[in-house]
Amino acid sequence: MFEMATKVHDERRQGEAFAPNIPDSKEYKRRFYIESYGCSMNFSDSEIVASILSDEGFGATRHLQEADLILVNTCSIREKAEQTVRKRLTEFRKLKHQKPSLLVGVLGCMAERLKSKFLEEEKLVDLVVGPDAYRSLPGLILGADDGQKGVNVLLSREETYADISPVRLNSNGITAYVSIMRGCNNMCSFCVVPFTRGRERSRDPESIIKECRDLFNAGYKEVTLLGQNVDSYYWTGALPSKEGKIDAQFLPPLTLLTGENNPQPLLMQDAGNNSDTLISEVSAWLSSPTGGDGTSGAKLGMGAITFASLLEMVALISPQLRIRFSTSHPKDITDDVLFTMAKYDNICKYIHLPLQSGSNRILQLMNRSYTREWYMAKVDRIREIMPGCGISADIIAGFCTETEEDHQDTLRVMEYSEYDLSYMFFYSERPGTLAQRRYEDDIPEEIKKRRLQQIVELQNKLSQQSNKEDVGKTFTVLIEGDSKKSDKHWMGRTSHNKVIVFPKDTHLLVPGSYVDIKVNDCTQATLLGEIA
Ligand code: 5AD
Ligand code: SF4
Repeated sequence: MFEMATKVHDERRQGEAFAPNIPDSKEYKRRFYIESYGCSMNFSDSEIVASILSDEGFGATRHLQEADLILVNTCSIREKAEQTVRKRLTEFRKLKHQKPSLLVGVLGCMAERLKSKFLEEEKLVDLVVGPDAYRSLPGLILGADDGQKGVNVLLSREETYADISPVRLNSNGITAYVSIMRGCNNMCSFCVVPFTRGRERSRDPESIIKECRDLFNAGYKEVTLLGQNVDSYYWTGALPSKEGKIDAQFLPPLTLLTGENNPQPLLMQDAGNNSDTLISEVSAWLSSPTGGDGTSGAKLGMGAITFASLLEMVALISPQLRIRFSTSHPKDITDDVLFTMAKYDNICKYIHLPLQSGSNRILQLMNRSYTREWYMAKVDRIREIMPGCGISADIIAGFCTETEEDHQDTLRVMEYSEYDLSYMFFYSERPGTLAQRRYEDDIPEEIKKRRLQQIVELQNKLSQQSNKEDVGKTFTVLIEGDSKKSDKHWMGRTSHNKVIVFPKDTHLLVPGSYVDIKVNDCTQATLLGEIA
């Protein structure tokens, strides 16, 4: 109940049944129904799964009764998420009694975590497929049709689904997710993700740019670049040339370009106003005999694409395309990223910067690799480089051994950071994580909940305060669609990711239009305005 509706983990979208946004009159051999839980990455993966299935003649349906195949894309991040899915699977089993040919499959993090347990002990499903094994779905479905239950939970060091063009499901036609990397190497002690999604790997930049450009050409106006830790995006592989050929495989040494104190965005200093030029420059350098000899900082910069350089390439697609990204890690976000954001109006001025805890002792137990001082200095730096930039956080209440003083430290960092929004959770021990193996989950539930309640109350105050400060200001807003409460109002977002609602009036606006809106009033969650 404390998980607020957000773009990162949108509580309103949990269990959403996906279907294409465009009416689809094609004849399909069979229909699949897919429900998604958890983070944006899972929702994005469901679009990859839809693409793989549609190549096999499966069409999506929103109606369970029509489905020949039911898929649940699952989340393991907290116990509650897993319980919800189990309940759902029990309901689906009942449907199988009515329609014996119906197949039920579990995808995603729970599939990875529980593997064949779903088939052997619980006998709930026919297919169990982990996040890196979606390409094997068609084969597994064929086997399951013949009564052979299928499991593929192999994790990969390479799979990025780079070549798969996702089928956009339930899309508003204006905003879309684009996955830029998979997995996570961070090993935060509370987190199950490194075990369920495997090692971190970055997707090749050319396929990312192509996907973003195709979205823009199809009328989309905003892309959100997704990864568990986007700041560690790092590409050193050969880029296909524009004709799609790879002339030379060249891998420069894996020297990290932190650029922490480098005020210049890497790679892009001399770039023209076109991401094609950038890609061909990068390709040319990568295939040149001297490329990546490591002797020159500038050259090394050209040899590796960092998140800052990727951001810049996407920003150059069109000033009319907005770019967001999630999630940043306080230990990894660089000045290069901040300066790149500041340089381009179309890179939204909003950073999701998980705090988790404001206590140095707890941060160390969480294996977060930063201190509260480091975190607060990052907040200062963001505000210095981009005054008015929106900042949000993830916060966990009641981690192992957390004292009242630790909790107060968290509240103090929240006050300091003046978050516009937070995603707040109480600690949920996850099997197999470092914390589960090393520490006792020793904070009683009522204390966890009370601390969480205090965190939520403080955040409500900060959100209200932040919205009040926007009253009287004018923002450029991208219209996403009708307001939920009234079709006489538009709903859109500001660059700093605030939802704003305003009357349609007589202006000729449509979803996807940019419009300047003056803020007249606000609630804790929404700005209210009028066309300026
Ligand atoms: N318990 C509670 N919250 C968790 N998160 C991750 N693992 C856990 C857990 N075991 C939260 C973190 C993370 C967000 C996606 O979910 O705050 O940033
Ligand atoms: Fe989990 Fe930490 Fe990786 Fe985020 S950065 S996915 S919290 S291990």
